[in-house]
Amino acid sequence: MGKIVVAIDGYSGCGKSSTAKAVAKDLGFTYIDSGAMYRAATLHFLNNYLSASNPQDVAKGLETLDISFHLNPDTGIQETYLNGLNVEDEIRSMPVSQKVSEVATVKEIRKELVAQQKRLGKKKGVVMDGRDIGSVVFPDAELKVFMTADLETRSMRRQQELFEKGELVELEDIKNNLAERDRIDSSRAESPLIKVPDAVEIDTSNLTFERQVAQIVQLAKDVIDKEKEHASNHR
Ligand code: CDP
Ligand code: CDP
Repeated sequence: MGKIVVAIDGYSGCGKSSTAKAVAKDLGFTYIDSGAMYRAATLHFLNNYLSASNPQDVAKGLETLDISFHLNPDTGIQETYLNGLNVEDEIRSMPVSQKVSEVATVKEIRKELVAQQKRLGKKKGVVMDGRDIGSVVFPDAELKVFMTADLETRSMRRQQELFEKGELVELEDIKNNLAERDRIDSSRAESPLIKVPDAVEIDTSNLTFERQVAQIVQLAKDVIDKEKEHASNHR
């Protein structure tokens, strides 16, 4: 009892992953970054000169793709591994960001990654963020959040994040990348990014990080309390 699924969807760079990570920590849940899986798949295709628009390449790519998450004992943070190698930083680089939304439109790739995501969340007690978590991966999630923020704010946050990792990128380039990914993600045929009717929308443009984390933690605790009350009434 007390374990639910929290699904967080939204546009690129509005704070989903860092917020989801902090929410999971507060609730004692596991955080799963579904975007990292699409990014790792993209890196795998790039590294092996495979084209996501060639069905034979896609089959070959999926056959040799092994994505896993491992806890870094020093930081306590889950890191992404591709075929046994830590790719946590590499998957956030601009070459991967420029290709990932195209790779994420491919039906077979989505099918495989969605199946893996469903398995990872089977026991509940997870916070997962992405684009189709509340709509496709966990349509029965007990709490669904749809995060937004204006493009300027999102771009500045992403630029700062890359700068802290030693990658200097022009604000205009980041803006173009985020806008282009939003466009592809929202208009693709396979599970496009949508706000499902039962999602709570949170605009983070003028919120502090701490405030948005606290809001979602409170929503989750309210759902958990309601479930407990419901269970005890039916005992
Ligand atoms: O961190 P950022 O918001 O920039 O992106 P991300 O969450 O790492 O996701 C990278 C890309 O993967 C997105 O732009 C989508 O194209 C794709 N994605 C998806 O299609 N479905 C998901 N559940 C998660 C990510
Ligand atoms: O996952 P998504 O692409 O939606 O966003 P992210 O990777 O979590 O990046 C958002 C960045 O904005 C992080 O560096 C956050 O610390 C920062 N940020 C935020 O998320 N919310 C605020 N209110 C202020 C800053």
